[in-house]
Amino acid sequence: MNPIQEGRVVIVGSGLIGCSWAMVFASGGFEVKLYDIMEEQVVKALEKIGKQLKELEKTGMLKGSLKADQQLALISCSTDLKAAVEGAVYIQECTPENLELKKKIFGELDNIVSNDVILSSSTSCLLPTKLFTGLKHVKQCLVAHPVNPPYYVPLVELVPHPQTDPSTVDITYALMKKIGQSPVKLTKEIDGFALNRLQYAIISESWRLVGDGVISPDDLDLVMSDGLGMRYAFMGPLETMHLNAEGLLNYCERYREGIIHVLKTFGPIPDFAGETEQKINKAMCKEIPADPEHLNARSHWRDECLLRLAKVKKEMKFGKHHL
Ligand SMILES: NC(=O)c1ccc[n+]([C@@H]2O[C@H](COP(=O)([O-])OP(=O)(O)OC[C@H]3O[C@@H](n4cnc5c(N)ncnc54)[C@H](O)[C@@H]3O)[C@@H](O)[C@H]2O)c1
Repeated sequence: MNPIQEGRVVIVGSGLIGCSWAMVFASGGFEVKLYDIMEEQVVKALEKIGKQLKELEKTGMLKGSLKADQQLALISCSTDLKAAVEGAVYIQECTPENLELKKKIFGELDNIVSNDVILSSSTSCLLPTKLFTGLKHVKQCLVAHPVNPPYYVPLVELVPHPQTDPSTVDITYALMKKIGQSPVKLTKEIDGFALNRLQYAIISESWRLVGDGVISPDDLDLVMSDGLGMRYAFMGPLETMHLNAEGLLNYCERYREGIIHVLKTFGPIPDFAGETEQKINKAMCKEIPADPEHLNARSHWRDECLLRLAKVKKEMKFGKHHL
């Protein structure tokens, strides 16, 4: 199968996120080289991808215009980093979340890449200044943080190092669009980037409400899945404000004082341990015991929900840009 896009993409690390990225790039018609340190791991990863692509095709959920076999034929494995990155246009690092390991890998890449390739990290928490400072090719480096699993959730946060060339961000943004992802640009680094800052704010207040005995863990989750989440799948909190009154200014006029009043009752950061941890764990494990069998089955169901949601979003021509 000849790739339908020019330029090879290299995925460094063939774990959960690496495999998902490989599938996303192949669905967009790119030739993908999947690199890992262990031959056994990368061969197994490719087998797993093949199975998943077939399964997705069977259920009509395969992304892109190519057939599963064609997509699989675009992905090959490697355990030779130098050979893998030769001629690559884009490298997505997906190794374990360990600063020293990632710095070592970017140091190695820095010595063997050309001046054109983009070096991108999937890190969830490590800041670009920690990862890329001092590299010869720092201008070509950025964080492209996906949401797990990137195949089903399209958002990608692009976070530059202060010395990243603006063209690096722009090219990555265009590339993400091309493969059907939904990129957002942060202008500077910040702990947690945008997504985890929002997620942690929600987790924090959820923890407090359950810990204080205001609501049960199951009901708390329903507040999100049958309440806020219904809207949030289609529009963000700011547009929600805009529509929940006669526009944003009217919303602020009506609710400003109330919001500030409630926010003042938020307490300190919870410790995410102790009695509340036990209580939430017990509730979570009642229907989904924390063993691989149950967790995998539920994750599989979640991924199917996300794929169907993606279809609905497409049908609804999601986004104000389409109005
Ligand atoms: N899992 C998530 O929910 C999630 C979400 C967004 C971002 N991320 C980020 O993605 C990255 C990867 O996470 P994951 O969950 O896929 O981890 P993982 O443990 O599933 O996979 C890591 C892979 O890296 C390989 N590896 C280890 N050392 C290597 C080296 N020196 N060179 C090449 N490959 C090497 C391992 O063999 C393994 O296949 C992390 O930085 C993580 O923070 C994870």
